[in-house]
Amino acid sequence: MKKIKRIGILTGGGDCPGLNAVIRAVVDTAILQYGIEVYGIIDGYAGLINKQLRKLGLKDVSGILPRGGTILGTSNRDNPFKYPEINAKGEKTYRDVSERVIKTVEYNELDALITVGGDGTQAIANQLYEKHGIPVVGVPKTIDNDLNGTDITFGFDTALTIATSSIDKIHSTAESHHRIMVIEVMGRYAGWIALEAGIAGGGDVILLPEIPFRMEKIKEKTDNRTKKGKRFSLIVVAEGAKPQGGEVVYLRKVDDPNDPIRLGGISKYVGDRIEDMTGIETRYTILGHVQRGGSPTAFDRVLATRFGFHAVEAAIKKKFGYMVGLRGQDIKTTTIKEAIALPRKVKPGCDLIKTALAVGTSFGI
Ligand code: F6P
Repeated sequence: MKKIKRIGILTGGGDCPGLNAVIRAVVDTAILQYGIEVYGIIDGYAGLINKQLRKLGLKDVSGILPRGGTILGTSNRDNPFKYPEINAKGEKTYRDVSERVIKTVEYNELDALITVGGDGTQAIANQLYEKHGIPVVGVPKTIDNDLNGTDITFGFDTALTIATSSIDKIHSTAESHHRIMVIEVMGRYAGWIALEAGIAGGGDVILLPEIPFRMEKIKEKTDNRTKKGKRFSLIVVAEGAKPQGGEVVYLRKVDDPNDPIRLGGISKYVGDRIEDMTGIETRYTILGHVQRGGSPTAFDRVLATRFGFHAVEAAIKKKFGYMVGLRGQDIKTTTIKEAIALPRKVKPGCDLIKTALAVGTSFGI
């Protein structure tokens, strides 16, 4: 069996704290333990399409462990199977340029390709594997925590910590001004950040994509608090939450072939209505990209480092088409196909929901 001599690594999709920790772990493990060369692909799949990659040495990854973002750059637009082009009529069309990826991989003699990313990045990796036999190994990344095949994705803990400390800050101003404060967190169509930050930050109401809400029920909760002499309320809302029978609120559509909808604005929807319904002064805050920036937590650094090490091990064992993931205390592999088949969402009857309900949290139903 041909030995692995050279590995490529790319970071795809939205950035997330811990990407650099994975890159460092891959480079250090590959070079120090196995004498394998590592090539970093620039800007996700764009680098494979446009032949942009560079050799990574130990010096390149020295000091990057605590740094947010990714030293390689990333992109959520460059899907080789749906690559945007302007045709002769000046219209935007999409073309399959995956042959260019094969050429880059072959020309650079990459024996394995580690793809660090969320569902979009892993879906492309799986297509490259199934259609073209590109030897991919996936590493699950996303602040949204919505990937299967792992108990948790790296980046989530950092986003959760940032969201919780933001709720704490908003808590003190809500209390001082006797206001209702609506805090909108990221997570796309999964409510993990809202649910856990809502529990950790003592949210009185938590609104999730998985549990469409009713404004009357939110009012019922804030009225109850008023009756008990509590003159403020905190509502934590996931960007993908929506009212029963209503639609998600979004800010814009972008050129992302995997998911062009950029959610945002549900906190204003809820805030405006609750102010009208209760007469209590209300403010809303959209936390946005601050949840994705800066240094990863210790938990994310450890998880990212473990993922990087195990991704190299998986590559050496030629477990291509697989993704590493945390299962209990251990790192295991699952086929990427299985991991991306369905998004991992909050189950309405799960223990976290039961716990939040037990301490009096309302989910707006
Ligand atoms: O998937 C990660 C994420 O941060 C989501 O929580 C959010 O909806 C989206 O990406 C934002 O994407 P962009 O950076 O393209 O605005």
